[in-house]
Amino acid sequence: MKKIGFIGAGNMGTAMIRGLAQANLVKREEIIVGGRNIEKLIPLEAEFTGLQITTETEKLVEQADIVILAVKPYTIPEVLTTIKKKLTPDKIIISVAAGVTILDLEELTSKETKIVRVMPNTPALVGEAMSSISPNSNVTAEETAHISTIFSSFGKAEVVAENLMDAVVGVSGSSPAYVYMFIEALADGAVLNGMPRDKAYKFAAQAVLGAAKMVLETGEHPGKLKDMVTSPGGTTIEAVKSLEDTGFRSSVISAVQAAASKNSSM
Ligand SMILES: NC(=O)c1ccc[n+]([C@@H]2O[C@H](COP(=O)([O-])OP(=O)(O)OC[C@H]3O[C@@H](n4cnc5c(N)ncnc54)[C@H](OP(=O)(O)O)[C@@H]3O)[C@@H](O)[C@H]2O)c1
Repeated sequence: MKKIGFIGAGNMGTAMIRGLAQANLVKREEIIVGGRNIEKLIPLEAEFTGLQITTETEKLVEQADIVILAVKPYTIPEVLTTIKKKLTPDKIIISVAAGVTILDLEELTSKETKIVRVMPNTPALVGEAMSSISPNSNVTAEETAHISTIFSSFGKAEVVAENLMDAVVGVSGSSPAYVYMFIEALADGAVLNGMPRDKAYKFAAQAVLGAAKMVLETGEHPGKLKDMVTSPGGTTIEAVKSLEDTGFRSSVISAVQAAASKNSSM
């Protein structure tokens, strides 16, 4: 099993580290977490016995076979400049940074570097991430399969061409935020009808989880599943009409487009 080093343990880094450590695919001793501030890393070390922490990113790269960059996009050049001389051709660099292309990463390292661009999302924390995997031509099929296995240990992962990355950011990288807004709004509607708030969040979130599982597990078209809930003259068709009247679908499509456009302009 290969050693995995994380550089950056913020929102996304921590979600992946927790997801990976909980999945038991990799021994805790095989995970090294690097950051600028040791105090911020100590809780992870305490939570997952055996996991190593460090502020010395060059040493982390020396020890790791796979290095996952989970820093903000504008920090990538600085981090790669620091670790470049430790990047031997056998190591795999994974970047989850939005808007940083494989070409950008190759220019900051070398043409021989094995690079994989990945776009996960924060539900990694509960083992339900959706991650896209785009390797450069130096990464073998076997290595790509290994990376997919790692990201599948805390959710679902699909290999996609890099030119789909804007769509990925819009539909899964950023979308947990819009889904939380939807859950919050559903719950507000329930509260408006007298339901206590704690119950309202539970009813709303479980309805979203159940509907998502129906799409994934039945393989049915979402429109057909919607039709199954919508009896003639019933309550649901009233709600569907209201959503259509207020531009729900168009609003969601525009949100995905906005995130995708932002990603392509970064
Ligand atoms: N958040 C999401 O939902 C999401 C989804 C998909 C992809 N991403 C991508 O994930 C990346 C990280 O995003 P985030 O939301 O996790 O950001 P974040 O919470 O700000 O975390 C960034 C982390 O990087 C650390 N860091 C900064 N400079 C460093 C350096 N030179 N060496 C080592 N560590 C350093 C920071 O440490 P300090 O706190 O000590 O500065 C912080 O822990 C971004 O590129 C983003 O595009 C995020």
